[in-house]
This record gives sequence, C-alpha cells and structure tokens, in this order.
Amino acid sequence: MPNPRILLIIGGGIAAYKSIELVRLLRKSGYVVRCVLTRAGEQFVTPLTLAALSENKVYTNLFDLKDEVEMGHIQLSREADLVVVAPATADLLAKMAAGIADDMATTLLLATDKPVLAAPAMNVRMWLHPATRRNVATLRGDGVTVMEPDEGEMACGEYGPGRLPEPEAIKAAIDRTLDNAPAPIPLAGQPDFAPASHRPLFGRRILITAGPTHEPIDPVRYIANRSSGKQGFAIAAAAAEAGAEVLLIAGPVPLPTPPGVIRVDVETAREMAAEVEAGLPVDAAIMVAAVADWRAADTAAQKIKKDGSGAVPPLALAENPDILASVAKSPQRPPLLIGFAAETNDVIGHAEAKLSRKGCDWIVANDVSVDPMGGETNRVHIVSKAGVDSWDRLPKNAVARKLMEKIADELTVRAPANSD
Ligand code: C5P
Repeated sequence: MPNPRILLIIGGGIAAYKSIELVRLLRKSGYVVRCVLTRAGEQFVTPLTLAALSENKVYTNLFDLKDEVEMGHIQLSREADLVVVAPATADLLAKMAAGIADDMATTLLLATDKPVLAAPAMNVRMWLHPATRRNVATLRGDGVTVMEPDEGEMACGEYGPGRLPEPEAIKAAIDRTLDNAPAPIPLAGQPDFAPASHRPLFGRRILITAGPTHEPIDPVRYIANRSSGKQGFAIAAAAAEAGAEVLLIAGPVPLPTPPGVIRVDVETAREMAAEVEAGLPVDAAIMVAAVADWRAADTAAQKIKKDGSGAVPPLALAENPDILASVAKSPQRPPLLIGFAAETNDVIGHAEAKLSRKGCDWIVANDVSVDPMGGETNRVHIVSKAGVDSWDRLPKNAVARKLMEKIADELTVRAPANSD
C-alpha cells in the first residue's frame, strides 16, 4: 500500500509529549500523518510542533469553518487508512464508547468508517475503574483495537498499568493493524480513496446472518455447531467497505464488529428469524449463518441432574424455522437472496437441490470435508439458475470481496432503481 495515511488524535495528559516521537517515527517510515489535538491535548503539545513534524496542517477546533469548506470533518475522518488515538485518556475512551461527539476529535471518531486503534494512558486507578473496564470492553466489542497500557511508575507517583505504550510499540501496533486490515476493493479507474458515492454498493442496504445458533437444553447446556462466524463477518466487512449499509445478525461468536457495520447479537434460531424479519426490506440478504436445524422441544428451567440410576434423560427435538426459506416466501423478499451450503459430499448436486428447495437466487457452496468450519480459507462454488461459477481456494476475506463485486453487478440488473 503506498504511503498509508494515519489520522492521529492526541488526547490530553502528560503522555501527550510522546505523540511527538510517534509522529517522527511514523514519518520516518513513510506514513502520511495528520494530527488532531483535543483542547486538553493542546495544554501539553503545541500545534506548531506537530505541524512541523507531520508536515501537515494540525486540526484543533470543530468550528474551523474554513476547513469545513476546504475539507469537511467527515472527509477528514475517512481519508485516512487508520485512526489512531494516542494518548487515549479515560475521558476520550468514555466518549468513544458512548458515541459522544462534542468536539473535533470525538466527532471524527464517530464519523469515521476506518479502523481505530487506541493507545490508553491514564492513572492506574482510572484504568482499573469498572467504568473504564466497561468502556474498553464496549470499544473492543465495536471493533476498536484498544492496546494494553504499559505498567510502571506513573507521573503521579503511583505504580501499575496505565502508562502510554512506548511510541515504538504503538508504531508496531499500527503496522500490524494495517497489515491485517482488509485491502480496499479495487475499483478500476478510481482513486485509492474513492468518495462514498463511487463505491459499488453505496446506497444499498444488505442484511447478513453469521455464526452458529445456540439452542438451550437447560440453563447450562445447549445444542450448537462448529461455525466460527469468520466467513459471515468477512462478508459484512467487505459489504461495508464497498459502501453498503450493513446489518449483521450474529449468533454467539467472539469476533469484533467490522468497522461501519450495525450488529445485532442473537442466540437462538428463533431470535435470529425475528431479527431478520425486523431488518427487512433490504436490497440483498446473505444468509451465512449455520442455523441449528433443531432445538430442544422443551427447555428445562433448572439444570438437568444425573439421578444415579444410569438412565439418560430423554431429549426431544423440535424443528427450527428455516429463515432463508421464509425470507424467500416473504412479501418483502429482497431482490437478491443468497444462501450458503456447507456440504461434505456431492457439493454442487446438493447446492442445486437447495437452490430450488429454499427459493433463493444463489447458493454459495463449499466442501467442509476439505475446508473445515473455522478455517481461514474457502473454495466456493456460486450455484444459480445461470450455472455454476467455481472460484479458486481463497482467504475468507478475499471470497467476501469477490462476492461483493458479483453482488454489486447483479444488483445493477435486479434492482437498478436506486443504484448510482
Ligand atoms: O438446509 P441448510 O442448513 O443446509 O441450508 C443452509 C442455508 O440455509 C444457509 O444459507 C443458512 O443460513 C440457511 N438456513 C436458515 N435457517 C435454517 C437453516 C438454514 O436460514 N433454519
């Protein structure tokens, strides 16, 4: 990637001086750096120092009207490849977690659709406070990378975790995040940072289900399957990158929410079915979830105990609703409805049968005897009435991006009304 761009938000606190070294390190490695100073940050470092080191204008005030003409805050927050908050104070983390946008820095953080990395720095008690613990957990759940602070003696004389990680460590985390970040979808003839209106799925609403479902037997046991949710989450990430408004309905998986994706967590098939129905209408629905076919017919209110006789408790099952098939029959059926099929034999034959049985437009089929659930790659076959399109084995995020290109093309034919 040529000259990756960092938007560096510098919070207040004694550690802000280290941001100067961070800017120097980033520039030395060829990063383009744009700095934003919070009002508190301005007490510790000057815009002039940062402007000289970053060789770029430094932003300090939301109400700089000239800049709204020159470069709006939305554009500023999105033209970067990565937004870095260092130091991330307790106050900034709290505002980020709550979605408060009351100054330049927090407005940019709320408006961005790019990955965010936060390097915290605060007093040890503040770091360990339940409120900060909650905020960090919320942010991580939202897909923000929150680094662990260093441990040691603090400016205030106390000892413990809360020191800003060293600039070299922050730079290493930036390198890692950018290496792992999904590459932008290549758009022929478009600049690297195409405005939203040029993204192939801009203006489209896409619903995605992902992960397994858990069907409770009693308060401690459930029926589940091996779905990791990785492919569905990669598809949600790629759809958001391609400019779509993405609603991800996720079964229980410990994966971070991809940037720009609206996520609703569910546990059971019936909860997933209700959320899918509530999410319609959409331009395309992609049902990647491995929904449990059966649930326990009755859920015990108390933990089922062994009675010592060796007799096993009966486990009666009931069939779960088929979400994909119901959406296909719904009056709100999306113009493009896509199902997934994990098969262990006769992959294409089963996928063709499933296509007509479920009433969807495409089945994305893969052989789970070759690519087991939870793996990093997939070899998929897109089965439709038009025939079978077999792709090479690819990493799951590459499958996702290729699928978005195909979906964008298909939607221009199936639902041209609000395209371009
Ligand atoms: O029938 P099978 O489970 O193999 O079908 C897989 C496809 O159907 C997937 O797209 C899956 O998300 C969807 N499905 C569903 N509701 C179910 C079972 C499967 O939406 N109860």
